[in-house]
Amino acid sequence: MSKEILEQFAAVARQIEEQLKFYREIGVVDIGGAARSRKKTAVADSAIEQARDVLPPPAPLTKTAPPPAETSSQKEYAMPGKKEQVEQVGLFGDVAPSTAEGVTLPALQSQDASLEAIREDVGECTRCKLHERRTNIVFGEGNPQARIVFVGEGPGADEDLTGRPFVGRAGQLLDKIIAAIGLRREDVYIANIVMCRPPGNRAPERDEVATCEPFLFRKLALIRPQVIVALGSPAFQCLLKTRETITRSRGEWREWNGIKVMPTFHPAYLLRVPAKKREAWEDMKKVRDYLNSLPD
Ligand code: URA
Repeated sequence: MSKEILEQFAAVARQIEEQLKFYREIGVVDIGGAARSRKKTAVADSAIEQARDVLPPPAPLTKTAPPPAETSSQKEYAMPGKKEQVEQVGLFGDVAPSTAEGVTLPALQSQDASLEAIREDVGECTRCKLHERRTNIVFGEGNPQARIVFVGEGPGADEDLTGRPFVGRAGQLLDKIIAAIGLRREDVYIANIVMCRPPGNRAPERDEVATCEPFLFRKLALIRPQVIVALGSPAFQCLLKTRETITRSRGEWREWNGIKVMPTFHPAYLLRVPAKKREAWEDMKKVRDYLNSLPD
């Protein structure tokens, strides 16, 4: 066997090992089918097949002190005190009634021809104060016909430097989550509430969200995915115009303009509280099963 082929085998083996490690971490025993991508793109079939055979049963849950409540994705880097503030008042403070109270959600009818047109409209944005210290605008990336869109909070340091969403540690975990439901990063679309990095990775402020969210809504209206995954409280609160936290709402289907929304923990939170990966996996299985239940 040639050296090149051996190297390819080794690379695939490493990938499988990595994926299996992730499944073990989240205690996966039921892997089930992979979510079908809109274009029937390749899935991590080999990893999934092998995982199905070799995974140990989940470790029994031991009783420990409850983990901190999830609030902002930026908690990974957040300054003490910030998270309590976000938890109590929510990103929208007093101004945001919940959808149940009849808030008017943005219209889904897309006025945009393409994501590029929206990007052009963003331009070298100076609409809010976040532009002052950003390196790059992180517009979002992925498949414009994605069946699933992941919405995070805002760029961190790595994203600010590269101009790409979710490329840091949280992004690497997000990649694994995407692979765990049988999709590839290029099958999905990834966006944030705000496109510029909040200084010191603080949570985006209300005026910053208000300025940037119309662009997010335009992206969503244009892509019109079958599922939006809201990563963390700020994304969930922004989409649903609610003050509910992700801790309370995760795993329950919601709706944004007729599109199903699955609120789940932000990957940055999962890095800090790995025990919560199991719950995130439950949420993602719902997403995968829903996508699989739809006709191609
Ligand atoms: N956290 C986010 O919410 N978005 C990113 O793009 C990266 C980290």
